[in-house]
This record gives sequence, C-alpha cells and structure tokens, in this order.
Amino acid sequence: MASASSPRSPCSILVALLCAIAVSSAAAAAAAGGGGSARGPIATNGKNYTKVCDAARFASLGLDMSAFRYCDASLAYGERVRDLVGRLTLEEKVGNLGDRSKGAARVGLPSYLWWGEALHGVSDVGPYGTWFGDAVPGATSFPLVITSAASFNETLWRAVGGAVSTEVRAMYNLGHAELTYWSPNINVVRDPRWGRASETPGEDPFVVGRYAVNFVRGMQDIAGDDAENNKQDPFTRRIKVSSCCKHFTAYDVDKWLNADRYTFDARVEERDMIETFERPFEMCVRDGDASCVMCSYNRVNGVPACADHRLLTATVRDSWQLHGYVVSDCDSVRVMVKYAKWLNLTGAEATAAAMKAGLDLDCGMYWEGVSDFFTAYGVDAVRQGKLAEADVDNALANNYLTLMRLGFFDGSPEFEGLGAGDVCSDAHKELAADAARQGMVLLKNQDGRLPLDIDKVRSVALVGLLQHINATDVMLGDYRGQPCRVVTPYDGVRKMVSATNMHACDSGACYTAARSGTVDATIVIAGLNMSVERESIDRVDLFLPWNQTGWISAVAAASADPIILVIMSAGGVDISFAQNNPKIGAIVWAGYPGEEGGTAIADVLFGKYNPGGRLPLTWFKNNYINQIPMTSMALRPDAKQGYPGRTYKFYGGPDVLYPFGHGLSYTTFTYTSGTTAATVAIKVSDWQHCKALTYKPGAPSPPPACPAVNVASHRCDEAVSFTVAVANTGGVAGDHVVAVYTSPPPEVDDAPLKQLVAFRRVFVPAGASVDVPFALNVCKALGIVEETAYTVVPSGVSTVIVGGDTAPSLSFPVKIEFAL
Ligand SMILES: *[C@@H]1O[C@H](CO)[C@@H](O)[C@H](O)[C@H]1NC(C)=O
Ligand SMILES: *[C@@H]1O[C@H](CO)[C@@H](O)[C@H](O)[C@H]1NC(C)=O
Ligand SMILES: *[C@@H]1O[C@H](CO)[C@@H](O)[C@H](O)[C@H]1NC(C)=O
Ligand SMILES: *[C@@H]1O[C@H](CO)[C@@H](O)[C@H](O)[C@H]1NC(C)=O
Ligand SMILES: *[C@@H]1O[C@H](CO)[C@@H](O)[C@H](O)[C@H]1NC(C)=O
Ligand SMILES: *[C@@H]1O[C@H](CO)[C@@H](O)[C@H](O)[C@H]1NC(C)=O
Repeated sequence: MASASSPRSPCSILVALLCAIAVSSAAAAAAAGGGGSARGPIATNGKNYTKVCDAARFASLGLDMSAFRYCDASLAYGERVRDLVGRLTLEEKVGNLGDRSKGAARVGLPSYLWWGEALHGVSDVGPYGTWFGDAVPGATSFPLVITSAASFNETLWRAVGGAVSTEVRAMYNLGHAELTYWSPNINVVRDPRWGRASETPGEDPFVVGRYAVNFVRGMQDIAGDDAENNKQDPFTRRIKVSSCCKHFTAYDVDKWLNADRYTFDARVEERDMIETFERPFEMCVRDGDASCVMCSYNRVNGVPACADHRLLTATVRDSWQLHGYVVSDCDSVRVMVKYAKWLNLTGAEATAAAMKAGLDLDCGMYWEGVSDFFTAYGVDAVRQGKLAEADVDNALANNYLTLMRLGFFDGSPEFEGLGAGDVCSDAHKELAADAARQGMVLLKNQDGRLPLDIDKVRSVALVGLLQHINATDVMLGDYRGQPCRVVTPYDGVRKMVSATNMHACDSGACYTAARSGTVDATIVIAGLNMSVERESIDRVDLFLPWNQTGWISAVAAASADPIILVIMSAGGVDISFAQNNPKIGAIVWAGYPGEEGGTAIADVLFGKYNPGGRLPLTWFKNNYINQIPMTSMALRPDAKQGYPGRTYKFYGGPDVLYPFGHGLSYTTFTYTSGTTAATVAIKVSDWQHCKALTYKPGAPSPPPACPAVNVASHRCDEAVSFTVAVANTGGVAGDHVVAVYTSPPPEVDDAPLKQLVAFRRVFVPAGASVDVPFALNVCKALGIVEETAYTVVPSGVSTVIVGGDTAPSLSFPVKIEFAL
C-alpha cells in the first residue's frame, strides 16, 4: 500500500479487511445507534429482523409503527422515502450518508452497512456487512470474472449472477449479509499490465458491457418484474440484490512506476470516452438497469471522477437514467483532499463538491479519526453555506429508494424461505465447475496432444510451484469470500489417474522429476499470483515470474513426450518460449478458475469436456509494453510519440502472441452462410445533416455526397440479417463461440481495425450442424465514433467478419448507401 506519491495512503479495498478489523469497534458503536441490531463479538450486521417495517421491531424501540408513513406499504416508494428523510434532523441525515449508515432509532430507522462485494461469489471484503461463521461458513467461489468472460456465454454470466444473489438472500435471512453489492468491475483492460484484469471481462467494451448486463440482471431481477418486462415506474421496480457498476471511469492504472490511482489524472479524448471508457457503463445502466454506479479515485481531465457533475449527473443519472445511487470508491472524497489535493479544497468543500456533482453515498475508510468525509463534514458543509440541505435530502432519497426496492422496509416474501441449504448447494458448486470448464481456453494443441486418453494414461507427473499444483489459494483470486471447498488441480487429476506424482519446483524437485521419465504424461501447472497482478499492483513485465520459464523449458527438454502446460493467470503471459517449442505439445489457459477449478482442468485435460473458451484479451509479447507507457490513455496509435494502438481494435502490429478471441477445440468446425453480400440503402430525411469523415491519404475523391449519418438523429431500424451454419466436422461434440466483427470502410481514417458486435456460444454434436442467426442493427453494429465524437454510420463498404481469430472464418461486404 505504501506508495511514493502518497506519504500515507488510505486503506484501500485491498486491505479493507484489516482496516475493518481496526475500526470494528467504531462500526459497532455506529451500528448500535440503529436499534434492533444484535451484535456478535465482531461488528457484523447480525440482524434479528428481516424487514424494517415490522411492528414488533418498532414496539421494541418504544414506537408505534402506524405513525410512520414511510412504513405504509400502500404509498408510493418515492412518497415513503420523502417521509422518512423529512423526519430526520440534519445531523441524523448526515449520519446516514456514509457506508456505515448510523440509522436513527428515534424514528425507527436501523443502521445499515452498505459495503458488500460479490465479484465472483459472496465475499466478506468490507466492514462486516457480510460475514462468514457459524450458520454460514462459506459461499460458492465462482471463477474470477476474466475466466467466466472467456466462456463468451451470456446465459452463464446471468446464471452466476442469479446464484450469487440467491446466496446473498439466504445469508441475509440468517443475519449474515446486507443487500447492496459493489460488483461487477467493468473497466476495460486497456493495457496488458493492468493489475485488476482478473476482476474484469477483458479488453473489449462490448463484451464487458454484455457481461455487465447479464451479471447485473442475474443479481437484481425478480421474475415477472425484470428489467425487460417491467412496464411500471422503474424507480419502483423491485430487485433481488443491488448490483453496482464500477469504477466510473477511465480508471485502469493502479500502481505503475510513479503513477498511482489516487493521484492519477487520466487525460482522455472525448472519442475514447464514448467509444471505450463509458460504453460498458452505459450498457450496464441502460440495458442492465443497474441500481448503483461507483465513481473511481482518479481524475478525468483534471476533475476527480467523484466530483464531476457531467459524469455523475448529466451522463449517468440524466442521460442514461440511473434508477439508483452513486457511491464513491472507498475513500475517493478523502483522496481528492489529501492526495490529489484538488483545488486545495477543505473537507467540507470537497464534500459539497462531490455531493453537488451527484455522489450520494461516501464509502470511507476510517482514518485519522474520520470515517467517511460526508459523515464527517456534511454538517459543516451545510452550516457553512456550501451545500444545500436539499442536496443531502436528494442523496438520501436515492440511497433509501434503493433499499425500498430491495424490500429492506417491507420484506421480500419470495426469498424469505432461503436458508443455509441454499448456500454452497450442489447445484451452485456444479455451476462453478461448469463456469470454469466453459472458461478454459486451449491455446495450442500440436498433433492432438490433448486430450489425454484416460484408458492409456495411467501415471502422470504434475510439475510446478506448489501454489499452482495444490492451488488452495491462487485459483480464488481477489475479492474472494470463504469458498465452500477447494478442488485443486492435484485433486482433479488424481481423480482421473491413480498414479499422480507431484513434483514441487519450489524445492527443485521438478528437474529430477523430468529426468526420471517413467510417466505416461507430464503436466506442468505454471502462472502468476496476486503478488504479480492485483489491485494496487500493476505488472512490470509480461513474462512468467520466478524462473518458471527456465525450468519449464528444462522439464520439456528432458521429457520423453511433449509436455502439457497449464497457465493460471488473469492477464496475458509472454510464453513465446512455449508457443513454438515442439516439446511443449499443448497449452491451456485456466485463468483463475475458482473453487472447483481443479475439476475443470482435469475434465479438459482428459477429454471429459471439450474446451470452447476464447481469450477475452490479447496476449501480447513483452516487447509491446516497451513501446507505450501505461499512463497513455489513448486507444489509437500515436505516430508522433511512436505509441502503438491498444487492444485488438487498434493494434495491428507484430507483438501479438495469441489474439483476442483465440481458442481451439478437440474437434473441427466449418462455417457456411447463404449471405455473401448485403446492401443497406438508407433514406436520409430532410432534417438530417450528413457528417464529414476524415479519409486516409489516397482514398478515392471526392468524398461521398453523404459521408456518414449521425446515429443520434437516425431511427436506426435497419438491420443486416444472416445465418451461419456451424458444422462440427470432427469426431467429438463441442461448444463453439461464433464471434461477429465488423470492419469499417477501409478508406476511413483512424477507425478501429475491427470491432466485435455480436457473439453466441453454441453446442454442436459431432457430425451435426447448427444454424446461428444474427440480426445486426446498422447503427449498433456498423456505427463508429468519428473524430469529433459523434457516433455515425459511415457510407461505403464495411465488412462483416465471422470468426477468424481461430479457424474457421467467413466474411462478406455490406454496402451502405445514403439516398438524399
Ligand atoms: C432485536 O434485538 C434487540 C437487541 O438485542 C432487542 O432489543 C429487540 O427486542 C429485538 N427485536 C426483536 C423484534 O426481536
Ligand atoms: C494549493 O496550495 C499550495 C500551497 O499553498 C499552492 O502552492 C497551490 O498553488 C495551491 N493550488 C491551487 C490549485 O490553488
Ligand atoms: C495442499 O495444501 C493444503 C493447504 O496448505 C495442505 O493441507 C495439503 O497437505 C496440500 N496437499 C498436498 C498434496 O501437498
Ligand atoms: C506468489 O508466489 C511467490 C513465489 O512463489 C511467493 O513468494 C508469493 O508469496 C506468492 N504470493 C501470493 C499472494 O500468493
Ligand atoms: C533458473 O532456471 C535455469 C534453467 O534451468 C537454471 O539454470 C537456474 O539455476 C534457475 N535459476 C534459479 C534462480 O532458480
Ligand atoms: C451456457 O451456459 C449455460 C449456463 O451454465 C449452460 O446451460 C449452457 O449449456 C451453456 N451453453 C453452451 C453452448 O455451452
């Protein structure tokens, strides 16, 4: 946590647990004000009620519930929230603006611990709103998000969100959890060094956005009242568990050389904001109807993200229509004052600036005697005339409306039957195993080295660092809770082969193992861990650390048969040494596969499951990072600085080891499509203005009469529809991800090389063929963000490309003509 630029960093989420322990007595004191909360030895929420509006609970506080309109379920949520907020004194209001909301026993309002994490399963990171022990010793630990993302299966993402929220509800009923969770993390992996790749769905804004929509809807939606079908006021749509899109925005430098997220000022062009940084958030809010957005520590073009009215209010709340609350990353307001020293604001001024910008809830770390800044300075800010009390009311209304929607006040009958048996159920453990299987990516499979034949392979050497072979820890990654159990690669392989010899390289045993040469197969498990890539730790290079390259090569050289290499990591690893080494026959990327990871790895290695995962980020060679500093935010190449472009959309150079979307199978697929070309004729209305585009030198001139049409002024009802028949021409059944890209007209300058616009994972039995239909909306799929940040549809010949990152592929031109 110590950092060069911050003399004393606040507790970050990274060390939240330690911080929480340090402040648990304070949290307990705060919570005690809430009334009705039983407290254990630590400051857990430990509730003895499942709804606020419970006459017995009010009676125990000496109150008559019927006198409180906010408990009248016949009234609209908005009216009830106004009643509640109106009853509070300024001091009481301010006491409820922080993540450890104090409640107000005087009016029956209990305390509430807002901070919850459920990135890949229910986690106990945070100040004990969610906790494990006695009745609930653990919760299902799904694969890290980067691994689930590799499945490219939207149904899976939603199912995981659904299982996590069921476990939350069960734990809530047992007094082990609250209802608000600050997941998912949907910042794009703009740079391969970013330490938090494990938490995210990768580098493509569209994939990240689709992950967000599905996870959020899995977490939040209640059948019959879901985001799609809800016809009533979305502010009153009931939700199962509140989910939060974070960290808004342009946050993806943690700690790289002297750059540090607390002081980093991301310099971002408007085009990149629209096209890359805001896009997943826009999808998360508009299409997922997420009930929360978290702003990030960093500044964006000089202004702290958590004090930027344009971002928080104009964009998220007004334009995208957030039906929920905006929370700070934990300690963003303090960070503005103490580390960024933004405008030399005082605590009261920063509190006023952030709340007026649209921040509703301040997550704070309890540091130097101050909890969160809103709670500490809110009264001063109002008394000094820097903040209107109505701004405080507005923030509280957003927060309590979210709790209303969660049934915090009225209960949620459909979930009240859930209990301990619904946490770590067999079905959830199986879903975790399936998610890990679906996320496994076969990077290399020379001469069909995999799968291993379970009838012939009777002895196996498992070689690697103990932390990877017996991965009781590494597979669980960050923001874990207590897993139900952990099935390590050793456990998984041992179930397949009775003679499994473990050779832990930590003690040098791997060399002797390799030389003994008496096994039927050698499996090396290698990779990274959270000392190399984690929140607050960006990578310094892309190589395998701890001399693994050296001994893997030695083991491969000494082995009779080509070895099998399994890599555990989130970010890409430069394993150039293995890519073309014939003694390394197969490479599987296992990501960080969660508590059931060992089962999934063994199922893939022994052919019980045919892998179908795809890389959700480009695996670069290390030379790439020598060409661009992590702090450069631009996505497009910069000829002046000599910077290459970023991500598959803008990098076309030689330093790619495995491309975004790469992933092999144990079978072979072919594509056929009846569509070989398409033309879209678009009538431009009188009131529409055509937009200019910049063209590459040598492009045909003069430019088209109507170069492009602004999507914002177009109905966007044209579509390009086609069907791809995916035939499994090999001998085994398998899943296949059909990825559809578009490539803009080649003469348009500074456009993406290609962009993913649709994907579908399908199961195809051996010898069978499955038709996969697509209908690409012209604005969404063929639109580009031009230089001045309009999203436009360009005229000319775009190309639809199906597949291509791994065989097979097909493509066809789409001619777009505008009739004036
Ligand atoms: C809940 O616990 C508190 C504190 O132990 C107690 O005073 C109160 O009576 C209990 N309320 C109910 C409804 O059981
Ligand atoms: C903040 O205060 C420091 C020290 O007094 C001063 O040097 C700096 O110019 C001030 N910055 C702003 C933005 O006012
Ligand atoms: C794996 O690690 C666990 C936890 O450290 C330990 O108890 C167990 O003995 C290890 N298993 C092997 C086979 O080394
Ligand atoms: C990562 O592995 C290295 C090398 O074995 C070890 O020193 C370090 O403690 C590990 N870190 C974590 C978080 O497991
Ligand atoms: C790293 O591996 C090489 C190649 O086998 C070996 O010669 C060397 O001793 C190893 N270095 C360390 C520090 O383990
Ligand atoms: C996608 O995930 C769902 C949920 O786990 C699963 O039932 C389905 O089989 C998966 N689809 C494919 C094609 O693998």
